[in-house]
Order: sequence, then C-alpha cells, then structure tokens
Amino acid sequence: MPAAIHVSRHPLILHNLATLRDVRTEPPEFRRMVRDLAQLLFYEATADLKLTTGTVRTPLAECASQRIAETVGLVPILRAGLGMAEAMLEMLPSAQVWHLGVYRDHETARPVTYYSKLPARPQIDLAVVVDPMLATGGSAVAALDILKKSGVSRAAFVGLIAAPEGVKALQDAHPDVPIYLAALDTNLDEHKYIVPGLGDAGDRQFATG
Ligand code: PRP
Ligand code: URA
Repeated sequence: MPAAIHVSRHPLILHNLATLRDVRTEPPEFRRMVRDLAQLLFYEATADLKLTTGTVRTPLAECASQRIAETVGLVPILRAGLGMAEAMLEMLPSAQVWHLGVYRDHETARPVTYYSKLPARPQIDLAVVVDPMLATGGSAVAALDILKKSGVSRAAFVGLIAAPEGVKALQDAHPDVPIYLAALDTNLDEHKYIVPGLGDAGDRQFATG
C-alpha cells in the first residue's frame, strides 16, 4: 500500500490554480501563483512535523509553547522547483536547501541529472522534494533515488500538477513517499506534457518560452 496522495480541494488553492493555468497569465503573476500555492501545500505537507514543548513569556505571563523539533531539507528540482522552495523557505527559515539539477531530454523525456548540491552526510529528518510538474515522474524518481542513496530515509513530494502516469511511476519506485498536489490532471500528450496542465512550468516562471 503506497503512502497517501493528497490532492487539495481547498478553495484558495483552486482559485490560484485557475490563474496559474490561464494562458494569459504573465511571468510575474505566474511566479506569485507558484509561490502562494507552494506555501499552501507546504502547510499541508508539514502537518505531521514533531514539536517540542516549552514555555514562552508574553508581556503578561508565562505560557506553554510548542516549537518545531525536526530538521527539514527542501530539495528543489532545478529549475522550475526554485520558486516553490523559496516560498517554503520563507515559512520555515531554518530549513536546509539542497539543489538538484534535473532536466528532461527533449527527445526521450528521460531525466538527465546535471547538478547536485547535497551535504556529504544528511542531517535532516524530512526531505521535501519540490517541483511544480509531475509528468512521466522520471525527474522526481531520479531525485528521490539520489536522496535515498545519500542516506535520506524520510521524504515527501510536493508538486502543483501531476499526471496519473507520474503518480504511478513515483508510487511504484518510492511507495513510502507521500505526494501533495494542487491538481491531478487527466493524461500526458504525445510530447509528455500534462493535459490540461499549464504548459512549461520553467518557461512560464522565467520568461524563456
Ligand atoms: C520539468 C518539470 C519537472 C519535469 C517533469 O522540468 O519542472 O522537473 O519537467 O517531467 P517528468 O515528470 O516527465 O520528469 P524540465 O525538464 O522542463 O526542466 P526545467 O525545470 O529546467 O525547465
Ligand atoms: N514539464 C512541464 O513543465 N510541463 C509539463 O506539462 C510536463 C513537464
């Protein structure tokens, strides 16, 4: 039984998703949507983080408090995952950020890893792999293969839009990894793009289309 797949039905997510998908949305607004959606999904993906209890003094009295006890590593898949990771880092500034460069070969749609900036010995409790698009799943599977080889034992994937093919590939290869999404679309087209999707997430963020 694979870990859960969470496809949010939250109105704020659905509202922003409409703008994100819209072909008329220009890069500045597209980046804002990526950022807002990433923060909303990160909120859901971190719901199980362990807490430590303590006390804090308010201007009026001492009261019980809780703080996050676990170390999180954000793992953006370059380049489209960058905007998401920065937005998450604002919510959890103590997180580590491990950059992984993976692109899809245009002919084969297979992932090509070109950059990896992981610490020699991972010191995190949870790795959160972030990439807006889970299409064939090749890039996410490659990223998680690398993370697990480096010693990561607990991970989650946060994306914006997935195709059923990508979800299946990720669950087959890494059944222990929960998946958090804003939408699960219907299929891939002949170029392995998600339909209806949003087009090319990297090009739309960085105006290179
Ligand atoms: C996109 C996207 C994912 C990958 C998804 O990146 O950001 O990383 O494709 O496809 P897959 O599930 O079939 O592997 P792309 O290769 O276009 O690189 P970019 O972020 O540099 O634009
Ligand atoms: N990468 C994208 O940016 N979009 C897709 O639909 C598939 C892969």
